[in-house]
Amino acid sequence: MRAAQVKAIGDLPEPVELDEPAPADGQALIAVTSAALNPVELRVAAGRMPGAIAPYVPGLEGVGTIITSSTLPAGTRVRFENDLPGFGKDGALREIAVAEETALLELPSSVDDSTAAAAGVVGVTAELAFRLAGMQGEERVAVLGATGGVGQMAVQLAAVREAGSVVAVGRHRPRLDWLRANGATASIDLTEPADLTEILIKAAGGPLDVVVDALWGAPAMDAIEALAEGGRLVNVGNTAGTEVELPLQAMRKARSSVVGLSSGWTPMSEKLDAYRFVIGQLAAGAIELNVDRVPLESIGSAWSRQAQFPHTKIVVSLV
Ligand SMILES: NC(=O)c1ccc[n+]([C@@H]2O[C@H](COP(=O)([O-])OP(=O)(O)OC[C@H]3O[C@@H](n4cnc5c(N)ncnc54)[C@H](OP(=O)(O)O)[C@@H]3O)[C@@H](O)[C@H]2O)c1
Repeated sequence: MRAAQVKAIGDLPEPVELDEPAPADGQALIAVTSAALNPVELRVAAGRMPGAIAPYVPGLEGVGTIITSSTLPAGTRVRFENDLPGFGKDGALREIAVAEETALLELPSSVDDSTAAAAGVVGVTAELAFRLAGMQGEERVAVLGATGGVGQMAVQLAAVREAGSVVAVGRHRPRLDWLRANGATASIDLTEPADLTEILIKAAGGPLDVVVDALWGAPAMDAIEALAEGGRLVNVGNTAGTEVELPLQAMRKARSSVVGLSSGWTPMSEKLDAYRFVIGQLAAGAIELNVDRVPLESIGSAWSRQAQFPHTKIVVSLV
């Protein structure tokens, strides 16, 4: 069986031949067609998450067809998610993979395998962020890191939820332009010097009710200052920095809140429900994904490209 393998922590994954895995009780065996790359996996492989052990097969999530399962017939197309690989378990980047039966979701025929694989972690994270914020229609929303995988989903899902306004904040102009045609009512280019708090409020048409934040650091501090009475910032990532100084006066005045979210620490049942919603929106044509499909043989270069913020979802083909 062909697979990708991180042979030593600090190495790029490379294509290898491995034995097929055997499913344990409660696990399905899956013929994998597509597996998406996600930033957290790069941190594991690079040794930036303590406790990782190589060699291992990466791949947090995948799409394929059931070979054996106690809950679904053979041939069923499913999306599945694994525990974060590299901590004693292998992942989805192999022709045959195992997955917990409880982590399977049958896919509608109208969504292709690459798109279904790409939509997983990023779509679930964006959707969970809005659920955690209790977002309502007509609310003013901003997405920090909008040009990334999570951000692109968050902008579009905010529009699906009939936000009053959706401000996409990022640095990559072409993707910001794309977002304005796909749900954003305004965009802010972080490379242009400006008072971010002020332009966020102006671009949104008033103080923000909900911020989905994949950046942290300086942009998050400015966005917290732009929150409305009862505003919520849901942080999912820290691509722009690990430190913030909370603007407490502004937070007390607005009774605003900052909440953290990790899909990795969210119960699978909640993630499946969020994914079902996202796939439904894709099937209905309400949202789109920018997918870049690459062969397994290119796993090393694809991994390096993911580290450079590709502004697309890189999906590895296993067929
Ligand atoms: N909490 C969770 O459950 C969860 C789930 C998925 C992802 N995440 C995390 O959320 C973050 C985003 O994930 P993703 O999948 O969207 O990643 P991604 O596709 O790699 O996007 C990250 C984006 O961050 C922007 N960026 C990078 N460095 C920046 C900087 N110094 N200042 C401002 N913007 C910067 C880049 O856009 P520009 O080039 O336009 O700046 C890039 O498109 C990552 O930290 C990831 O680990 C968390």
